[in-house]
Amino acid sequence: MTLRRSTIGVFDSGFGGLTVLKALLELIPGADYLYFGDTARLPYGSKSVETVARYAVEAAHYLEAHGAELLVIACNTATALALDRIKAAAHVPVVGVVEPGAEAAASVSKNKRVVVIGTEATVSSHAYRKALEARGLDAQEKACPLLVPLVEEGWVEHAVTEQVARIYLDEAFAHGFHDADALVLGCTHYPLLKPMLRRVAPAHVSIVDSAESTAHAVAAHLQTLLPASPAADEERRALPRLKFFATDSVEKFRRLGERFLGHTIEGVQHVDLKE
Ligand code: DGL
Repeated sequence: MTLRRSTIGVFDSGFGGLTVLKALLELIPGADYLYFGDTARLPYGSKSVETVARYAVEAAHYLEAHGAELLVIACNTATALALDRIKAAAHVPVVGVVEPGAEAAASVSKNKRVVVIGTEATVSSHAYRKALEARGLDAQEKACPLLVPLVEEGWVEHAVTEQVARIYLDEAFAHGFHDADALVLGCTHYPLLKPMLRRVAPAHVSIVDSAESTAHAVAAHLQTLLPASPAADEERRALPRLKFFATDSVEKFRRLGERFLGHTIEGVQHVDLKE
């Protein structure tokens, strides 16, 4: 990497990783971004390690081939199941979402007891629990598979979603975790539910958004690679260039993606990854 703007590749199973891209754009506007959404093969959250690792490595290679100098694995499931495999296959630095999320939980939790919600695959991998235990925290993980389709339906403030979230969180904060004081959002879709989860979660609980913590981890990483200099600072003042790649319908990516990113999406290219 040289002393100039960097190109960051962001990978997700679909649209949800746009919550991570949103956090990155807010914190690091002086970079350019390539976003890859594997919309033809989502959801990853119900798939096996082998399948997720194969898909994620293909996407990582695609982003590298298109100029990504740093890869952000925005998908919690891909990070939890395949981060080591992606790192081994990539030729550029790779940042996942689990470690930054666990680090943020460790810094906000006072009693070192936290609840993590995510997809079935993320929870079964226990990646979050391991990362939290390594920092001296106890974690209870809870799979919330119905939340992803409800968010994709746009039901982020819907009574049905609120009821579903209440059932999941009641179970998550049971079994000796009534006193847990942090809730980690271990899935790309959950930041959209933050206002509702704030109402549904016990009042004393801090909500940890791994999209935000990941953006901070990427910023810290870039600082070590791209030291400040007047010339480099000048280059980084330009607006970020964004390119999107989707393996399914470009039109659908644009339509759904705008909700996750919070503004209009242009320049989506269809990608056909051969099996
Ligand atoms: N991106 C996935 C995650 O963060 C959720 C959607 C999916 O299951 O593919 O775990």
